[in-house]
Amino acid sequence: MRAYIVPKSSTGIEQLRRIDLPDPQPPGPGQVVVRVRAASLNYRDQAVVAGRYIGGALARDTVPLSDGAGEVIATGAGVSRVRIGEHVAATFMQVDPSGPPGGAVTTLGSPLDGMLAEQIVLYENGVVPLPEGYGFEQAATLPCAAVTAWNALMVAGRPVRPGDTVLVLGTGGVAVFALQFARAAGARVIAISSSDEKLARLIPLGVREGDTINYRRTPEWEQQVLRLTAGRGVDVVVETAGTGTLNRSFSALAIGGKVGLIGVLASGESNPYLLMRKQASLHGIFVGDRAMFEQMIAAINVNRILPVIDKVFPFEEAVSAYRHQLAGSFVGKLVIRI
Ligand SMILES: NC(=O)c1ccc[n+]([C@@H]2O[C@H](COP(=O)([O-])OP(=O)(O)OC[C@H]3O[C@@H](n4cnc5c(N)ncnc54)[C@H](OP(=O)(O)O)[C@@H]3O)[C@@H](O)[C@H]2O)c1
Repeated sequence: MRAYIVPKSSTGIEQLRRIDLPDPQPPGPGQVVVRVRAASLNYRDQAVVAGRYIGGALARDTVPLSDGAGEVIATGAGVSRVRIGEHVAATFMQVDPSGPPGGAVTTLGSPLDGMLAEQIVLYENGVVPLPEGYGFEQAATLPCAAVTAWNALMVAGRPVRPGDTVLVLGTGGVAVFALQFARAAGARVIAISSSDEKLARLIPLGVREGDTINYRRTPEWEQQVLRLTAGRGVDVVVETAGTGTLNRSFSALAIGGKVGLIGVLASGESNPYLLMRKQASLHGIFVGDRAMFEQMIAAINVNRILPVIDKVFPFEEAVSAYRHQLAGSFVGKLVIRI
């Protein structure tokens, strides 16, 4: 089968290699083989190829990308949740059902082989059916970015309610899904970005024109957030930047608000005492499990939410997709057709 690998000890995109690998072994008990039709990039995939992901450089050649969707082409003994021919998306975390309860959770694209290959073996409990009307390219955007956004908004702490205000940072995969889910829940969304052009692309998604802030021009954006909310602050910050912006996120919060800590893009010192007076909370987010994924799909179906796909690359141009992501000139998701 055609595949890409990030070689052991890789330190950059130029080391990504297209290769032929043997087709996977027949699926074991509780496993399925998926013919992958599309995969999508997350910021994490840049960290993996650069040797900067959790645990450092890769210890073995690894097929990259956690997120993808395809068709089940074989099922192992005892599989009952999915059928051959069913269209599915992979869950970010793969849990061996024969392991101990609460046992090790492993993730696709590092340390497990990921979705940038024509076939993959997954656990039957590690796939979900696609949202209604979704094609493979749309579904391939969901496993990491969308589930993370869902977790931060709807699972961690108090779920978003109609009339809440949600602040999203940037215009990448997680932020744009968070915007869409927050709007569907009846919340107002304030968005910050480095680019006016990118902010303009959020208006059709339901952000009011006055509710966008360019953080290059307005580095003290938390003050503007407070002005926009008449001094009250926001109920939720989807913190996709990192510890370097946390103090501003804390300052932008309303009393009783919450921050979902997600990103590792901006590092720096932060002061959790800023939460105390506001009785606010900070939640560490690590993507989310299958139950969250399925709950999110139910919401996608009811609200007919479609992912924002900036560009689809053919398999042969996967390296260009990585370079495009690194250049940062996109809104939402980048997809690779397989
Ligand atoms: N904890 C988890 O489970 C989890 C899950 C998914 C992602 N993440 C992390 O979340 C972050 C975003 O991931 P992604 O896949 O959505 O990335 P992405 O699609 O590559 O988008 C990154 C976005 O971050 C924005 N950004 C960069 N620096 C910023 C800053 N200082 N302030 C505000 N925005 C900033 C940029 O927005 P503009 O270009 O508009 O300025 C860019 O669009 C990454 O650090 C990723 O590793 C963590």
